[in-house]
Amino acid sequence: MSFSRTKTRTKSRIKSRIKTVLVINGPNMDRLGNREPGIYGTMTLDEINAEIKERADKLDIKVQFFQSNHEGDIVDKIGSAKTDGIIINPAAYTHTSIALSDALAAYDGEAVEVHLSNIFSREDFRSKSLTAPACRGAICGFGGKGYLLALEALGNLR
Ligand code: DQA
Repeated sequence: MSFSRTKTRTKSRIKSRIKTVLVINGPNMDRLGNREPGIYGTMTLDEINAEIKERADKLDIKVQFFQSNHEGDIVDKIGSAKTDGIIINPAAYTHTSIALSDALAAYDGEAVEVHLSNIFSREDFRSKSLTAPACRGAICGFGGKGYLLALEALGNLR
């Protein structure tokens, strides 16, 4: 029907304002693959990042990747980010870092927090995120696919 064709064309012309995304992973995320595979799975961070890049290409989003085991380096990276969006897995700093929370609050773009595991179904100390309230939203419990969901979410922002 011509009506639905017109509608589809109109919809596809509405582009997301998020064109560039920085993906940040915190401490010990460089050890994925071997790190507690029963909880975090067997994919390495490089493999996860390759999937993110593939999805980003489809969504026409440019992605950059950063991993650090050092809180201050992550603070600096957020502070100097020029991207429209950030996807961040702050790892253990999620539960401890006011510095990261402040950096995200001051970030002039859209941030999404991601966790591979469901932080609400683990030890009590993991149920509290200091960083998620400074983000637009959070996704947890879907393994590496969570980053793809976060990318889709950012790509759908108008
Ligand atoms: C994690 C959950 C955190 O509690 C933990 O400290 C991590 C990984 C996750 O992705 O499930 O390092 O962020």
